[in-house]
Amino acid sequence: MPLFNRTLSSVNYDDFADLYDHQYDLYRDDLHFYAGVAERVGGPVLEVGAGTGRVTAFLARRGVDVTGLEPSGRMIERARERAAQSGLELRLEQGDMQTFGLERRFNLVIAPFNALMHLYTPNEQVRALENLHAHLGTGGTFAFDLYLPRFGKSNTLRHEGETFYAADGRRTDVFFVQRHDKVRQHITTEYHVDTTHAGGQLTRRHYTLTQRYYTRYEMEWLLRFAGFEAPRVSGSFQGGPLEKGSEVMVFQTRAL
Ligand SMILES: C[S@@+](CC[C@H](N)C(=O)[O-])C[C@H]1O[C@@H](n2cnc3c(N)ncnc32)[C@H](O)[C@@H]1O
Repeated sequence: MPLFNRTLSSVNYDDFADLYDHQYDLYRDDLHFYAGVAERVGGPVLEVGAGTGRVTAFLARRGVDVTGLEPSGRMIERARERAAQSGLELRLEQGDMQTFGLERRFNLVIAPFNALMHLYTPNEQVRALENLHAHLGTGGTFAFDLYLPRFGKSNTLRHEGETFYAADGRRTDVFFVQRHDKVRQHITTEYHVDTTHAGGQLTRRHYTLTQRYYTRYEMEWLLRFAGFEAPRVSGSFQGGPLEKGSEVMVFQTRAL
């Protein structure tokens, strides 16, 4: 069966935790944006799809009252380990943004770095957005970012310079193949991660990640349907306009 015909309920990030940190530990483009919104709006803040705590820890270190929601136990473990290394304790809850229920209400909900791309059907999207709305008080802010749908060559093994070197001489290369299901708006990336050991021996691990991409106006309508006001959309974390060359769509809206 072709990969893109698989039924998806959610992607299992448990398998993905190690690779994720390698790839995105140094990604910092969005950190000051989310810290700025948190400072402007004030806490408490809920981050959905907190992953290994990249953004959660950045906010917590700045004194923001932040709770991270994350379905993957392994990602949460990683977040705690990483935070503990710098003496930080994070408030993390295991849960799915479609179904979680916390008693607390938040002034700000954030979903950084494509977290909403793990909602694969209109029902999943509306369920999640309505649940996030329910966790915000009226007038509460919701901010998130998504990459603009623009893809490289499909069905071709690619390497885009992702090579990591470990202290013990191991070298890890990330190769990937992408498959695009235009009808479902799914992009599936199959990673082949090769580690070459000091003696020349090679080990390979496979990871598969499917994301559901959005167009700008589709997201605007989804937000309005779920009870949010028309969003402010920009094409960068610095607030520039969304234009042809933009790589991200940054949304800010409020609960009506
Ligand atoms: C691309 S990562 C972003 C992680 C983190 N926000 C960051 O910026 O580094 C997306 C995260 O969303 C989580 N996720 C997937 N499905 C989810 C769901 N239904 N509810 C909440 N989080 C989900 C994944 O487990 C993963 O950790």
